[in-house]
Amino acid sequence: MTLPYTTGTVGAVSRMIRRLTLVLFLSTVSFLVNAQVITSPDKNFTMKFELAANGVPTYQLTYKKKPVIKESKLGLELKDAPSLMNGFTVSKTEQNSVNNTWEPILGEQKTIRNNYNELLVTLAQKDQKDRHILIRFRLFNDGLGFRYEFPQQPELNYFVIKEENTEFNLAGDHKIWWIPGDYDTNEYAYTTSKISEIPGLMKKATIDVHAQWPITTTAVQTPSMMKSSDGIYINIHEAALINYPAMNLNVDPKTFKFSSHLTPDPMGNKGYVQTEFNTPWRTIVVSDNAGDILESKLILNLNEPTKYKDVSWIKPVKYIGVWWEYFVAGKSTWAYGKETNVKLTDDFTKLTPNGRHGATNENVKKHIDFAAKHGFDAVLVEGWNIGWEDWFGNWKEEVFDFVTPYPDFNVKELNAYAASKGVKIMMHHETSASATNYERRLDDAFQFMKDNGYNSVKTGYVGKIIPRGEHHDSQWMINHYIRVAEKAADYKIRVNSHEAVRPTGLHRTYPNWFAQESARGTEFEAMGGLAPEHATILPFTRLMGGPMDYTPGIFQTDLSYYNKDNNQRVNTTLVKQLAYYVTMYSPLQMAADLPENYERFPDAFQFIKDVAVDWDNTWVQEAEPGDYVTIARKAKGKNEWYVGGITDENARTATVRFDYLPKGKNYIATIYADAKDASWNKNPQKYTIRKVLVNSKSVLKQPIAPGGGVAVSVKEGSKQDTKGLKKL
Ligand code: NOJ
Ligand code: CA
Repeated sequence: MTLPYTTGTVGAVSRMIRRLTLVLFLSTVSFLVNAQVITSPDKNFTMKFELAANGVPTYQLTYKKKPVIKESKLGLELKDAPSLMNGFTVSKTEQNSVNNTWEPILGEQKTIRNNYNELLVTLAQKDQKDRHILIRFRLFNDGLGFRYEFPQQPELNYFVIKEENTEFNLAGDHKIWWIPGDYDTNEYAYTTSKISEIPGLMKKATIDVHAQWPITTTAVQTPSMMKSSDGIYINIHEAALINYPAMNLNVDPKTFKFSSHLTPDPMGNKGYVQTEFNTPWRTIVVSDNAGDILESKLILNLNEPTKYKDVSWIKPVKYIGVWWEYFVAGKSTWAYGKETNVKLTDDFTKLTPNGRHGATNENVKKHIDFAAKHGFDAVLVEGWNIGWEDWFGNWKEEVFDFVTPYPDFNVKELNAYAASKGVKIMMHHETSASATNYERRLDDAFQFMKDNGYNSVKTGYVGKIIPRGEHHDSQWMINHYIRVAEKAADYKIRVNSHEAVRPTGLHRTYPNWFAQESARGTEFEAMGGLAPEHATILPFTRLMGGPMDYTPGIFQTDLSYYNKDNNQRVNTTLVKQLAYYVTMYSPLQMAADLPENYERFPDAFQFIKDVAVDWDNTWVQEAEPGDYVTIARKAKGKNEWYVGGITDENARTATVRFDYLPKGKNYIATIYADAKDASWNKNPQKYTIRKVLVNSKSVLKQPIAPGGGVAVSVKEGSKQDTKGLKKL
């Protein structure tokens, strides 16, 4: 039976309600599709993806409920093709969570946790025959990573990128530690300012660096380190930079909006893509504790595990070199001959010796003896091969052949001598930025290394790139560095590149590419000096991407010591140089000073001999970019701990905890400290060394001199060793 009220007014109301519910339901669905929210596993971060008006993809990020990235656009402009900027609809979203661990081959920690919530959004352009792309977001407890993914499809088989327009719309006029955006060099000094002050400071910040190519008055490089007025630290960089140009950031000084600016090729194009393809990850590491930024493993987690099957040969290296003498002593050079206009086809044995060649049999043997005596793995020898007479500044294609030694460097004899002492000679391939020449000769160069007993190489890219018009950071060169790393792996060779693109965590995927320079390193201490704060900034910037061959360990800091006309000085105390071995992570560490200087300070040199280069664990004790960094680490597979603390130009008291030591046991701590009246400019070589007992409850409060540091080694000791030692 049909009741009368199922029709008429009541029926109309109920129909209306049903319709309303349907409308409400539909709008929830479209809300859910067009806007998706994920949180980090610890719930501190929230990331919202939303399609804005005109189908423009956007994202925003909050940390502990505070905005970090306000609504920011995502997308790319293509050359001679409709853009991937707007006109999108969301055709699919997927969520996923991952929580696992993995072990790096070399690293700051034995085990790395990889824990994130993921959102994968599929976007389609109906007007472009359903052309579709994906954006993958991964939200970790230390920040966000996202990338564009391009599936293979008829409408998107090949494309050329005009620009990537990823925005990072920052929430305020933050303090920023920055270097100028540049297509070719990262060897700049840091400037600290507000975002709004960047344009006004750009000219001063763009100091003269060889082969530089500054971009605009408003671009900075990544890793870009910032701090908000309410104490949030933000680091923007990229991960897994493969087959794509490096990203700089355009800065809007009024709105604090950053946007990606890729490095172009000679035609002004940014990238050539064949699908299926993924861009590198854009990374935003965030915390209210600066130390967390340094402990973040987000960038490594976003890189792919290595595909190398055998990694047993990838070992850390501590080395010395025939190197610093070229910068300071003025008595030796890379070049052998007096002539300056030479060709690779010349007979170099016919050159007139300049009498100052550094890579001689005698000098190299002296270094091998020293390395063997003090337990170093290797001796870097620069200037061993022909071509140095005419290597700099001429944009020459064929400068080096990487296989022909100078007449006074006997490859076979020296490698046999090194082998007999358990030491390796480290190869040096300065390419003078002629990547084409290097690639043509790569197999011969690596085969030559294998035949003669070398297993690691320092490469260099000083100068303007060949292929001409390419940049150090353009897509072609990015692929070059990776080709070199992969080819080196075929020969079981480790690579330490200088002047290459800044690292993006690729040492996970190519673990034999185990260190890079890619920033202003120690060499500049002999060419104008580094600000005392420089090394407190590097861990927050350059080192976010990977290990740095900073080449520390300079004991003779006043360079007038060599020659009274040399007014250069290394702007640190001696002890700060020791601390660098801990604060500046790298599985490749150089003791860069001349052997005779280490012989003058054998007690301080002991720290460099002892300190580990590969670690089970790391604890950042205290850190503030531009001011100080104190880090403790446990040596890989050993009950030994090392601590390094550094300050800027201001004296301070470092606080070092020992709560990571196993409980209930005393250990011997050797504390290398600046003397009371030490300072980087007045009294750099005055230090004290004391031994005390420490346990997990100990806390060291150690005064550090202006421009100074502290270094501590902690070891187990027998009853005999600990006898008479006082507790801290
Ligand atoms: C620059 C490198 O950074 C430096 O270490 C090297 O000695 C010179 N190039 C020469 O290759
Ligand atoms: Ca360099």
